[in-house]
Amino acid sequence: MKLVTCCSFKGGAGKTTALMGLCSALATEGKTVALFEADENRPLTRWKENAVKRNTWDPHCEVFTADDLPLLERAYEVAEGRGFDYALADTHGGSSELNNTIIASSNFLLVPTMLTPLDVDEALATYRYIIELLLSESLAIPTAILRQRVPFGKLTASQRSVSDMLTALPLTEQPMFERDAFAAMKVRGMLHLSIRNASNDPAMRLMLRNLDAAMEDLKNLSKFVHQILED
Ligand SMILES: Nc1ncnc2c1ncn2[C@@H]1O[C@H](COP(=O)(O)OP(=O)(O)OP(=O)(O)O)[C@@H](O)[C@H]1O
Ligand SMILES: [Mg+2]
Repeated sequence: MKLVTCCSFKGGAGKTTALMGLCSALATEGKTVALFEADENRPLTRWKENAVKRNTWDPHCEVFTADDLPLLERAYEVAEGRGFDYALADTHGGSSELNNTIIASSNFLLVPTMLTPLDVDEALATYRYIIELLLSESLAIPTAILRQRVPFGKLTASQRSVSDMLTALPLTEQPMFERDAFAAMKVRGMLHLSIRNASNDPAMRLMLRNLDAAMEDLKNLSKFVHQILED
């Protein structure tokens, strides 16, 4: 089982959304995905509840509460025992013993950030924190910055300059764009199953193109994750 974790000091960086999206992309490939809910606000549990109601929850995936160390250990053991291909951990903002344990147990770390100076500053602080933690534990875990909520079209001068700053660091090949389809996932459930449902519903035809475009972003992200994990 490969553990992929989204972390950032800053709240609202797009961690949970990136994980929900990656989960959907992996499930489309037939992978089984354990979701470790390490955020006590339980966004993934709510996501699952909404998805089950809308028939957009993929039974290849399961949410495990993991917001303290014993629960995390148990979740890891059970998920590994059940043979899940992937575990995705959604952390709360900031640093904690729980986050340190998750980071140190991961196979790949994603640090999402929006392209504002404040967000990038926090992403750099998170990145530095991770590197220091890994060095202190003599661990080498691939880590990449995920540019999140990137607007379509021309970036503003400020967005360009923070984007240029990030090129010095390992980045995912593609960003996640700012899309309504991503913002709506928490209510609509898994994107690949929203697409399946929309394609059977004539009233949803126009929306389908937007959902498909969002799914392409996610497939790129999962392709990148596979590449890293295969190295
Ligand atoms: N690519 C995107 N396109 C549009 N909206 C997005 C995108 N990514 C995130 N959002 C929206 O931004 C807000 C914050 O995202 P999210 O909850 O994923 O961040 P987070 O880092 O998990 O936050 P927290 O620190 O509270 O856990 C949410 O309302 C979400 O719908
Ligand atoms: Mg979150």
